[in-house]
Amino acid sequence: MVENHQIIRRTEEFVHNLLKSENSGHDWWHIHRVRLTAIEIGRLENADLFIVEMSALLHDVADEKLNESEEAGIKKVNDWLDHILLERTISDKIIDIICTISYKGGNQPPVKTLEGKIVQDADRLDAIGAIGIARTFAYAGAKGDLIYDPELPYRHELSKEEYRSGQSTAINHFYEKLLKLSSTLNTLTAKQIAVTRHEFMNQYLDQFFKEWNGQL
Ligand code: ADP
Ligand code: NI
Repeated sequence: MVENHQIIRRTEEFVHNLLKSENSGHDWWHIHRVRLTAIEIGRLENADLFIVEMSALLHDVADEKLNESEEAGIKKVNDWLDHILLERTISDKIIDIICTISYKGGNQPPVKTLEGKIVQDADRLDAIGAIGIARTFAYAGAKGDLIYDPELPYRHELSKEEYRSGQSTAINHFYEKLLKLSSTLNTLTAKQIAVTRHEFMNQYLDQFFKEWNGQL
C-alpha cells in the first residue's frame, strides 16, 4: 500500500514539473504558499489534512489559462489521481474541490466541504497583502498594463464587453478584486489572517496616492 506522504511527494513533483516555468500568476511558488497556508488553516480548523494538502497542490493544474479547456484541465487532474492509484472516494473529494475552485465563468458554485473552503481561502489569501500586491504588479506588467492611469474609466462603469476587452491597470485591480476578497472568505481563521493583509493594502494605496499627487 502506498503511504500518504509518498502520494504527496509524487504529486508535488508532478505539479512542480508542470508549473515551474509558469509565469501567469500560477507559478510553483504560488502553489507552495497556498499549500503552507492551507495546511496551517486546516490544522486550526480540524480538517482532513491529506485532502487539504493534495487539493492545494493540484488546485491550479486545471486552470483554464493553462489548459485547452476547463474539461481538459480536470481530466489532467483525474488522470493523475488514477495514475497514483488513489482510492476513488478520496479522489472524488479532491476533484470536487478543484472543480469548484477553478470554475471561473458565471456564478461560482459554493464550495461544499470544509477542506475545499480552506483551499479556496488559502488561494484568496495569496492574492492579498504584500504578496498579493507583488502578484498584481507582476501580472499587470506581463499583460502590458500600466501601474495606474487616472484617465482610464473606472472599470465598473464599463459594460461587460468593454470590461473584458478594455485595459485595466494594476491599481484598478485592487478596486475590482483585491479589496473585495477578504469579505468572501469562508473560515474564521482565514478571516483573521486577512485583517492585517487587508489593512496593509489600504495603507499601501494611501501612500501610493500621496506620492502620485506629489505630496512629499
Ligand atoms: P487566482 O485564481 O489564483 O486568483 P488569477 O488568474 O485570477 O488567479 O490571478 C492570478 C494573480 O494575478 C492574482 O494575484 C490576481 O490578483 C492577479 N491578477 C488577475 N487579474 C489581474 C489584472 N487584470 N491585473 C492585475 N493583476 C491581476
Ligand atoms: Ni491559485
